[in-house]
Amino acid sequence: MPPKAEGFKDGDTKKGANLFKTRCAQCHNLKESEGNKIGPNLHGLFGRKTGQVEGFSYTDANKHKAITWKEDTLFEYLENPKKYIPGTKMAFGGLKKGKDRNDLITFLREETK
Ligand code: HEC
Repeated sequence: MPPKAEGFKDGDTKKGANLFKTRCAQCHNLKESEGNKIGPNLHGLFGRKTGQVEGFSYTDANKHKAITWKEDTLFEYLENPKKYIPGTKMAFGGLKKGKDRNDLITFLREETK
């Protein structure tokens, strides 16, 4: 049998919270009331198309990517944002470890509701 392609698996919410705090929180808020920072507010992210947050000035690259944010698209994006969305202005190199992405995405799924 060929090895299974790597993909999203449920992770550890607490570790995800810590990753968010240290790697994402300087640029992103999670609560609807908190507004945008350097990056768009991530409230309601799951199930939303790219580039939809009102009042945030996205690059065309981000706006026109036109995928829906969910576990598997975030899993791929967060490994290397500039590869997934060439031309994005998100200044983040990526989380290379699949386990870190699983933990972070598990946290985000809860906290962006
Ligand atoms: C240095 C600031 C910065 C950091 C750090 C950062 N981001 Fe971003 N992020 C941005 C900016 C700016 C954009 C908008 C990009 C564009 O328009 O090209 C963005 C876009 C996004 C989007 C697309 C949103 C949409 O509505 O299409 C997601 C999802 C996202 N970031 C998640 C994260 C996560 C999760 C982390 C932590 C691992 C992170 N970002 C770290 C600045 C940042």
